[in-house]
Amino acid sequence: MAQKQTKLELTWIGKENRPKLEPRILIGDAGRSYHAASRVSENDLFDNRLIFGDNLLALRALEQEFTGRIKCIFIDPPYNTGSAFAEYDDGVEHSLWLSLMRDRLELLRRLMTPDGSLWTSLDDSEAHYFKVLCDEVFGRECFIADICWKKRDGAPNDRKIGTTYDHILVYGRQRTGTSKKTDAEESFNLMERTEKADSQYQSYEEPFGCDPRGPFRKVDSTGNAKGGRYVESLFYPVTNPFTGQQVFPRKGRCWVYHKDEMERMIADRRFFWGKDGKATTPMRKLFKSEAKPGMTAPTIWDDVGLNQHAARELELIFGEKAFFETPKPEGLLKRVVQIASNPGDIVLDSFAGSGTTGAVAHKMGRRWIMVELGEHCHTHIIPRLKKVIDGEDKGGITDAVGWKGGGGFRYYRLGASLIVEDEWGNPVINPEFNAAMLAEAMCKIEGFTFEPNTDIYWQHGRSTEADFIYVTTQTLTRQMLTKLSDEVGPNRSLLICCSAFRCDVDGFENLTVKKIPKAVLKKCEWGHDDYSLEIKNLPAPPAAPPEEAALFESGLSSDNAERTGRGNTRKPTRKFGKGKNDGPALFDMGTTGAKGGR
Ligand SMILES: C[S@@+](CC[C@H](N)C(=O)[O-])C[C@H]1O[C@@H](n2cnc3c(N)ncnc32)[C@H](O)[C@@H]1O
Repeated sequence: MAQKQTKLELTWIGKENRPKLEPRILIGDAGRSYHAASRVSENDLFDNRLIFGDNLLALRALEQEFTGRIKCIFIDPPYNTGSAFAEYDDGVEHSLWLSLMRDRLELLRRLMTPDGSLWTSLDDSEAHYFKVLCDEVFGRECFIADICWKKRDGAPNDRKIGTTYDHILVYGRQRTGTSKKTDAEESFNLMERTEKADSQYQSYEEPFGCDPRGPFRKVDSTGNAKGGRYVESLFYPVTNPFTGQQVFPRKGRCWVYHKDEMERMIADRRFFWGKDGKATTPMRKLFKSEAKPGMTAPTIWDDVGLNQHAARELELIFGEKAFFETPKPEGLLKRVVQIASNPGDIVLDSFAGSGTTGAVAHKMGRRWIMVELGEHCHTHIIPRLKKVIDGEDKGGITDAVGWKGGGGFRYYRLGASLIVEDEWGNPVINPEFNAAMLAEAMCKIEGFTFEPNTDIYWQHGRSTEADFIYVTTQTLTRQMLTKLSDEVGPNRSLLICCSAFRCDVDGFENLTVKKIPKAVLKKCEWGHDDYSLEIKNLPAPPAAPPEEAALFESGLSSDNAERTGRGNTRKPTRKFGKGKNDGPALFDMGTTGAKGGR
């Protein structure tokens, strides 16, 4: 009997529902952007980005430009146990959280460099489910570590067993070949040496005085030789250079070096035989001057600051009034950023909160991108970063990294949806969009890089060296298309997105002509602004028959939509999305199209 194929996976209510996200444009706001008055150093970074809006849409908006470019992602997502869930059962609550995180994780993964890593801070409520979810999105082989970050000194006294730590789950983007480590771990920096680790190196008195090579750490020179681990060649007598006595490894042990190597090291005084030189088991000297510049990071982090330190750091910046409930200490982010990135790399946090990740990345010379939905994007993040840039933030890791100020960031908000409904419920291009915004939006939707050519009006963007896009709200005639086709020539191609055309377009070999908005209507969910972690945002189940999947189910055909767009107020009767390609223009934005309206 054929065996049913099953796979190990986590299931939840609504797992199969996936949003078709609109790739929004990002609108810069010079008034909210900020940069230092002058250069502080040659390495000042100005192209950092602060994005105000829902992170699912923001990540989608970043996808085109930043796919494969983010080296380190730190996220600290909220776990919404508030009133939004009061009337739902636990299964829905957890399912919603998993769905929303899965969609974000998939986008985050796409943004990561091949050696990029994702660090996610969570508490016990979701950490274990999130681990399984990440195994599914990244692959189990991409799991790196579950770091236990000590967030408080004492257990909360309203519990019999109270948690004092959070999880930080670390995943790498990929693992290649037969490597036992992800590409991310291969590229990680060693953790900076801690004071505690350095204190193990000391200067010890020896029969000839202190070793002039400086302080060292004593390391066992024998290994376990029990059972199958006995290696005969590693069991031999060694002569103590101070007493002349022959010594052997202790019972059940053998030396860890071969005889030649051991003798060479003894001659080089690389073993410690005690203050008086009479020891019978020499200890290997590990000199501080020869030690690795960093150390392997342990998975318990109890030395990077607690929650209360993070709160104090914010108080120092804002005074007590600017209260923010869940900041992370800068020391925690410093360790993450130091291990997972190098100066100039891009660090991203799509749940920015008070902006700790950006502040730390900035002070450490990394580029950063942060996304925050809450109003504290303006009340906390912007003032905090201004202080960092002006060199006025004296707290956190400022002294540890020698931060003096400099650089800047650009502020963006998410653009509105490209398609809205007009007063009759017909999908039309959002009147808020000017010609440049429309061209940029269409480039994103069609997968072109927005790169307007000021000399050639029909080049708004490109997908390759020879493939271009032209976006216009005009109705194109045969004459206009013939001219365009001639200009494009035989070795190039052009996608034209226009309101309408008045001829058969199949005859132009180098042109593809699409009508907007009709050609893009099914590409994504339009007008959906809020994908935040709330119950009301559970995605709708997928529509069954394809023809009913149109997002603007107004009972209106595209032909009718086009006519009503021209002033026909007739009640629409047919379903949207079934019309022909040759109707009149839906709208006219008043641009000539000659220069793309820019
Ligand atoms: C736990 S806080 C992060 C704290 C941050 N690590 C710090 O050090 O300040 C989570 C943040 O995610 C934000 N957030 C929640 N849902 C979001 C969404 N859909 N898009 C963008 N930000 C969101 C919340 O507003 C909140 O500020």
